[in-house]
Amino acid sequence: MATAATRSMKSVLLLLSVQIMFGLLHAVISEEENQEMERQLRVINKPPIKSFKTRPKHVPKSTMEGESPRLLPDNIKCPPGSVLIRRTTKEDLIMANKMKTLGLNHPTNPAAPDANTAAVRYPKHNFGARTTMNVWGPTTLPGQASFANLWISSGPSEELNVIQAGWAVFPMLFSSNNTRLLTYWTGDGYNTTGCFNYLCPGFVQINPKISLGLVLDQLSVYNGTQRDIQISIIKNANWWLQFGNQFVGYWPQKLFSYMHDGADNAVWGGLVISPSNEPSPAMGSGHFPKDGLQNKSAYFKNTQIWDGAKLIYPSRDQLALSSSRPDCYEAELAPGVAPNPVDLFYGGPGQCHI
Ligand SMILES: *[C@@H]1O[C@H](CO)[C@@H](O)[C@H](O)[C@H]1NC(C)=O
Ligand SMILES: *[C@@H]1O[C@H](CO)[C@@H](O)[C@H](O)[C@H]1NC(C)=O
Ligand SMILES: *[C@@H]1O[C@H](CO)[C@@H](O)[C@H](O)[C@H]1NC(C)=O
Ligand SMILES: *[C@@H]1O[C@H](CO)[C@@H](O)[C@H](O)[C@H]1NC(C)=O
Repeated sequence: MATAATRSMKSVLLLLSVQIMFGLLHAVISEEENQEMERQLRVINKPPIKSFKTRPKHVPKSTMEGESPRLLPDNIKCPPGSVLIRRTTKEDLIMANKMKTLGLNHPTNPAAPDANTAAVRYPKHNFGARTTMNVWGPTTLPGQASFANLWISSGPSEELNVIQAGWAVFPMLFSSNNTRLLTYWTGDGYNTTGCFNYLCPGFVQINPKISLGLVLDQLSVYNGTQRDIQISIIKNANWWLQFGNQFVGYWPQKLFSYMHDGADNAVWGGLVISPSNEPSPAMGSGHFPKDGLQNKSAYFKNTQIWDGAKLIYPSRDQLALSSSRPDCYEAELAPGVAPNPVDLFYGGPGQCHI
């Protein structure tokens, strides 16, 4: 356990490194770019109390108990009636622009050339889904990322509507290799609309304690204790995100043109992105399912589809399993605990050239 002295030393060091980082980043952007970013930040960082007031009166009732999510430390308190979110900084926007420059402008698009997936698809009508996934800290290089996601999508590929949520190790976005709660949305096939977490207007936060980007510091241990989170994306007029049994917020229906009457696909699994000249990062636990399922493989368990009225378990024959590079990342279905017909196990060491 860290003493108060080492903790305060750590915060001083953190502050210093953030300031150095800002100094370096500022040196490389023009005044014009700076003004544009200031403008974007004003739009994105609306006063939190104002955005709280836009919250709908009717919050959908939780349909199932989830596992208790990890909350913020007790010493962070919000004024009554306000919502705490991680504010988007100029540094975040610079990182987002840098990703575009590096050609990573379609991050987490499973169809992108720099992406590899090991996942399962439920190619049928739905109003969202709920899943329980174990959390890992796969090793990634600074220009890479490793995700575990639930995707809900609809529409033709150029106009694809997507909401996705799960965990990720994404050093380029967060300037750290922590595992974090990460979401993305797009209304046009990852082209011009949408973003991660709060990087553009879209997601409406309602939860005063759980923010997107939350560090998930309870990681699973290979051949040891497994740590789970439960994620739900559920349509109830708007598209709601639940973390455990807590509603975090929602994506307004108006962001999407093809998801008024639900969605056509639900997908869950792993995705990695990597520049083509680097050996690709680990996915999930960094081990193949064939190396052992119990306490060893990354998984999605108890995945259920929300049919608008209730949660249903998809049957094995309704699911399409895929891996874009089975020699690097595998996906496998195995019987779940009754009445759940199947669980997904996925992942691998990577280290291949994409
Ligand atoms: C993250 O980076 C730190 C410091 O560079 C390193 O000690 C740690 O092992 C890394 N963690 C992972 C999961 O790669
Ligand atoms: C992306 O958006 C731009 C600007 O709206 C458009 O010109 C382009 O055709 C779109 N690209 C794709 C692949 O849809
Ligand atoms: C996994 O853990 C068990 C004990 O829980 C141990 O007997 C076994 O050797 C371990 N296997 C590996 C591959 O570490
Ligand atoms: C998995 O881990 C749990 C908790 O550490 C342990 O009780 C169980 O015996 C392990 N199972 C296997 C097959 O290693």
